Amino acid sequence: MTLSRPLRKAVFPVAGLGSRFLPATKASPKEMMPIVDKPLIQYAVEEAAAAGITDMVFVTGRNKRAIEDHFDKAYEMESELLAKGKEELVDLIRKVLPRGCRCIYIRQSEPLGLGHAVLCAQPAIEDEAFAVILADDLIAADPPVMAQMAALYQREHCSILGVEDVPRDQTASYGIVSPEEQGTGHARIKAIVEKPAPADAPSTLAVVGRYVLTPRIFGHLASVKPGRGGEIQLTDGISALLAEERVLAYRFAGTRYDCGSKLGYLKASVELGIRHHEVGADFAAFLARRTHA
Ligand code: UTP
Repeated sequence: MTLSRPLRKAVFPVAGLGSRFLPATKASPKEMMPIVDKPLIQYAVEEAAAAGITDMVFVTGRNKRAIEDHFDKAYEMESELLAKGKEELVDLIRKVLPRGCRCIYIRQSEPLGLGHAVLCAQPAIEDEAFAVILADDLIAADPPVMAQMAALYQREHCSILGVEDVPRDQTASYGIVSPEEQGTGHARIKAIVEKPAPADAPSTLAVVGRYVLTPRIFGHLASVKPGRGGEIQLTDGISALLAEERVLAYRFAGTRYDCGSKLGYLKASVELGIRHHEVGADFAAFLARRTHA
């Protein structure tokens, strides 16, 4: 196992049902939903690239075509745009996959849970540490969150989970960690539980969609039994990993939008909309007029 080299690979699980967004997700994955003009998955890939990651491993389900096509070269569209003299748009679509990056697609034949999706990526990861990014957790941060975590990984060479404080009445929506010390930037995790009721939660530190994992996780994921909802939970694999390795909780600096929920998606659209280089000022003026109307 080589833990000394920088992170090179990221896994993007995109095979979930996206049932909270039906009917929008009936024929296309929720990770293709745009915030202003870019799909969620492109924000995630750009975040990985900003952390120095080059190998983008997508774990896809049904409806995988849209994601493959998005990161593929679009010859016909390029020549049509060129014929119309729209070079700047050609440039825009050529940059969808960041320079020097490559895509690997692996099929999760059934949506058996996030843990199972990560296990499906094992043939592309082999024996090195890797990132996992859930594109529906969009995090506005500078530097981007995975770059913050990759820097920490370079110092610590162990698994790291991105965490943030959530209101106690929301613990049942997250994996919740119990850290050795409270209130520090990063701390060793003593325990992790999936979706505890508020009264049973060991803390209010919730795992959100950013992970750095050592390859030992695969052995645990292969042996965990289906947990809540009959799914193979990533949390259960991490819980087993804790018993043999140091795993850190990292409180990232940044604002997270839960774009897997309608409200979080709308908030992200407004916040990124008012910062958009083209329409931001007009959109902010529109919102201000509405507030005062
Ligand atoms: P969610 O828990 O958000 O589930 O998955 P979901 O199915 O996508 O959405 P809802 O709850 O039905 O609306 C968290 C992440 O794990 C991926 C999803 O694509 C999402 O990025 N996932 C989940 C898989 O890739 N495979 C699975 O079997 C389950």
